Amino acid sequence: MLAKTPPMGFNTWNTFGSAINEQLIHESADAMVDTGLAAAGYQYLVIDDCWSEYLRDPQTHRLVAKKEKFPNGMKAVADYVHSKGLKFGMYSCDGVRTCADYPGSFDHEFLDAKTFAEWGVDFLKYDNCYRPATSDQRNLYARMGMALRASGREILFSACNWGQEGPWDWMRSVGAHMYRSTGDIFDNPESYRNIARSQIPHLGASAPGCFNDIDMLTVGMYGKGNVGTQGCNDADYRSQFSLWCLYSAPLMLGCDVRNMTPFIHGLVTNRELIAFNQDPEARPPIFLDGQGDESRTITCMKFLADGDYAIGLFNITENDREIHMLFTDLGLPFDSGYGLQLTDVFTGEDAGFYREYFRTKVAAHDCAVFRAKLSRG
Ligand code: GLA
Repeated sequence: MLAKTPPMGFNTWNTFGSAINEQLIHESADAMVDTGLAAAGYQYLVIDDCWSEYLRDPQTHRLVAKKEKFPNGMKAVADYVHSKGLKFGMYSCDGVRTCADYPGSFDHEFLDAKTFAEWGVDFLKYDNCYRPATSDQRNLYARMGMALRASGREILFSACNWGQEGPWDWMRSVGAHMYRSTGDIFDNPESYRNIARSQIPHLGASAPGCFNDIDMLTVGMYGKGNVGTQGCNDADYRSQFSLWCLYSAPLMLGCDVRNMTPFIHGLVTNRELIAFNQDPEARPPIFLDGQGDESRTITCMKFLADGDYAIGLFNITENDREIHMLFTDLGLPFDSGYGLQLTDVFTGEDAGFYREYFRTKVAAHDCAVFRAKLSRG
C-alpha cells in the first residue's frame, strides 16, 4: 500500500520554479542523503512544472524532457535518484497545458502514465490548469488514476486540484494518495496561517492511503526563490512545520535542501514532530479554536497510536500572548483524577504535570508543542 503515512520529500517548485536542470536534481539528491534528510524519512525527490519541451514529440506524441535542462533524458535522472536510495517524482496536468504552459496530459493520460513508468517514476503530481470547460474534474483525475494503475509500475498519485469541487468527497475514490486541498502557498506568515485555518473542517477526510495535502513547505526559504514573497522568521517556520505535522499533511520540503541552516535542518528532522506526522493512525486533531478569520490562536490535540497525545498551541498574531487550554475541552473532566505530563518537543525537556488546564506564554508567530501523557500525577 502506498501512502500508509503522509509522503515526505522535496519538490523543486517553491524555490526553483522553472530554473531546474539535471545538475540541480543530482545536487539535491546528494544533499538529501548527505545531510540525513533521507534517513529522517524524506524519500521522494519531485521535479515540478517546466521540465519538458514546449511540444510533444510529433511522431510518438510522447512528452519529451527539455534538452537544455535534461540533456541525458529523464530515465537517466531517475536512475541517478534511485542510485541514492531515493524515489523519483514528476509532474503533469489534467488539462491541455500545464500551469506554466507546457504540454498537459489531457487525452494522453494512458500514454503519459506509460512513459512515466518507463522512465522509472515513482510519484506523479497532477495539476489542474487548462482544463476543457466541458470536462469534469472527478473524471479527469479518475482517468489518470486508472492510467497509473495500468502503467505497470507502482506510482504514487499526488493530485493537485486546489480544493475545487470538494475533493474531500471524491479524491479517495479516484485513486489519489494525496490531494492538494488549498491554493498555492507563498512564503509569508499570512499564507501558511490561512491555509492552516482553512483546513480545519476538512481533516476528517485525510487518512492512510489518501492524505489532504496543504502544499509544499516554505520552511527555510527566508523569502528567496519562486514563491519567496516577504519570507518568514524562524518562529513562523517552527509553527508551520509543527502545524503540518499535527495535521498529518505530506511533508514536501520546498527550500533549497543544499543550503539549510542548522536551525532549519534541526526543525525538519525533529524526531518527535516527524513521529506526530507519521503516526500510523493519522487521526485529525481536536481543535479548540482557529477556524474563524478573527482567530488569534490555533490550539489542538491529536490522539496518537501509542496512547500519548500531541498538543500544539499556536500564536498567529503579531503580539506575544498567553495561551491556555482547558482539559475538559479535550475530553478530560476536572474530576477524572487525571492530568497531563508534558514534554517539550523542541527541547526534549520535561515541561511539568498539569491538572485541569495548561497555560503558557507564546511569542508572536511562535508555538508551543508537547508530547502529553495521561497520568494521575
Ligand atoms: C500550480 C500548483 C503549484 C505548482 C505550479 C506549477 O500553481 O498548484 O504547486 O505546481 O502550478 O506551475
